[in-house]
Amino acid sequence: MSLKNVRLEVMQHLEQDVDSLIEKYLIPVDSIWQPSDFLPDSESENFYEDVREIRELSKELPYDFWVVLVGDMITEEALPTYESWLMDVEGVGQVERNGWSKWVRHWTAEENRHGDVLNKYLYLSGRVNMREIEKTTQHLISDGFDIGTDRDPYKNFVYTSFQELATYISHNRVAKLAKEKSNKQLAKMCRIISGDEMRHHHAYAEFVERIFAVDPSQMMMAFHYMMKQKIAMPAHFLREAGGEISTAFEEFSNTAQRIGVYTSADYVDILRKLIKRWDIANIKDLNDEAEKARDYLMKLPDRMMRLAERMKIPENSYQFKWVEPA
Ligand SMILES: [Fe+2]
Ligand SMILES: [Fe+2]
Repeated sequence: MSLKNVRLEVMQHLEQDVDSLIEKYLIPVDSIWQPSDFLPDSESENFYEDVREIRELSKELPYDFWVVLVGDMITEEALPTYESWLMDVEGVGQVERNGWSKWVRHWTAEENRHGDVLNKYLYLSGRVNMREIEKTTQHLISDGFDIGTDRDPYKNFVYTSFQELATYISHNRVAKLAKEKSNKQLAKMCRIISGDEMRHHHAYAEFVERIFAVDPSQMMMAFHYMMKQKIAMPAHFLREAGGEISTAFEEFSNTAQRIGVYTSADYVDILRKLIKRWDIANIKDLNDEAEKARDYLMKLPDRMMRLAERMKIPENSYQFKWVEPA
């Protein structure tokens, strides 16, 4: 049987459990938080006062902080790209409405709240140029992305396992920075987003774990492939209006490193966590090629850490159109 057919069979086999995985990892609409839980109530008498408080507290946070929050928000707002990509993965049947497309829809519905709440908060903060931000978002959705996973479910689930943990880290660190400046409301909001990302990470990591149990060699090869080519961030095509793709993303990621929201050490740390979570050292029944892939993966974190330590981050902030100069 071809590798592709085996993957489809594995996806169909796992599909039987998708309903229980949705129940385990996602939260029903009536009990999950909504953006309005963390924003001033516009029906309330206190609305203007609450907005004024947001604007006052916003002044305490530095330029780089706002750049990172904007970049994180734009990344979340490009959700149409991620949903359509996942709907196209082998085994995910949108028209057939199979278990996998149900997962993708439910996951998307949870994710959609992230960009929504961040967008409204940034709008009220008075610290950012919404029109420039909106142009970047429109560009990013138009430009799409290419994360090098093909339609392969194995590679895509490695990608999402990694990426959900990366977003957990960055939203959580933003929450900490906000808390340090006594901005409790913003801290709470970012912490609750990071909680969603952590649940999603656990779900995707379990999908991979289940694939390892039935198709260990090919799952190992997919993990190896993704890590060898490096995980491209979902907003890697980010650009400002009138700007080129790539420069903006690089500066956004420099900014995130500079304020410690997401660093190359975090990248390596995520890789270590995945290796541990999937017990890569002890996976049985690997063919020769997959054994070699395992060796490569086991050595990779130390190798990458040495490179990460040597990386230099520019000290000065990069001026984005999204945020007024400090
Ligand atoms: Fe998200
Ligand atoms: Fe996410």
